[in-house]
Amino acid sequence: MELYDAMRHTPSCRYFTDEPVPDAVIHRMLDHARFASSGGNRQGWRMVVVTDPDLKKAVADLHRKQWDPYFVHALEGVVGFQGDGSGSKMEHGTDRARQRLQRTDDFAQRLHEVPVLVLPYVELATLAVTDQHLDRTSIVGGGSLYTFVQNLLLAATNEGLGSSLTTLIAAEQPLMDELLGVPPGFALGALLAFGWPVPERQYTKLGRKPVEEIAFRNGWDRPFVAD
Ligand SMILES: Cc1cc2nc3c(=O)[nH]c(=O)nc-3n(C[C@H](O)[C@H](O)[C@H](O)COP(=O)(O)O)c2cc1C
Repeated sequence: MELYDAMRHTPSCRYFTDEPVPDAVIHRMLDHARFASSGGNRQGWRMVVVTDPDLKKAVADLHRKQWDPYFVHALEGVVGFQGDGSGSKMEHGTDRARQRLQRTDDFAQRLHEVPVLVLPYVELATLAVTDQHLDRTSIVGGGSLYTFVQNLLLAATNEGLGSSLTTLIAAEQPLMDELLGVPPGFALGALLAFGWPVPERQYTKLGRKPVEEIAFRNGWDRPFVAD
């Protein structure tokens, strides 16, 4: 698959078939994703690939512990969940937003059935967190894990697989560590789900903001447009 096609066609897949994913496919994806950039090329990322049904169930239960209350709040409109996919502005309470919320709940309730779950961790000692002393939420540390994660999602699309990324699980790291036998000193960044997508339930057109709304030339006030 052409790279730009993969970048434009990597939706959050919410419905997967039961068909197993060969280990060789996951290995190939990891083998390409590992060429991602990381701070100082320290490659502090580590992944746990979960295919065991009992373990998947335990992971899915922990994910639901976070998701279920979030879903209730989102339904009540307390939490601004997400836009309608038009990409140009956040709209809440639209049919599209409600449909997305329902699809995400379907995904969470059946997470244990997804063929492959990947838990990406990063070793904290490898991170140079250059914004850690600023008076705001630090974001830089994650940069040395999410380059790998995005590569994995693109690799999945290249293989014809569907994928989903969720971060709610990070709040359950202590129990996840216990479950997976993770040594101290690592941070859990996400939960990735991989499987063959159910084509008729897969969104193909992604809603994203246009370049002119997100990129500026020589400052913050002029949209970046091509000459
Ligand atoms: C940092 C990050 C955190 C996310 N967390 C969640 C999550 O906790 N649960 C979930 O279902 N999806 C999560 N997503 C997926 C987004 O909700 C999804 O990409 C977005 O709604 C757009 O959907 P689309 O990619 O199918 O267009 C997350 C994505 C990112 C990049």
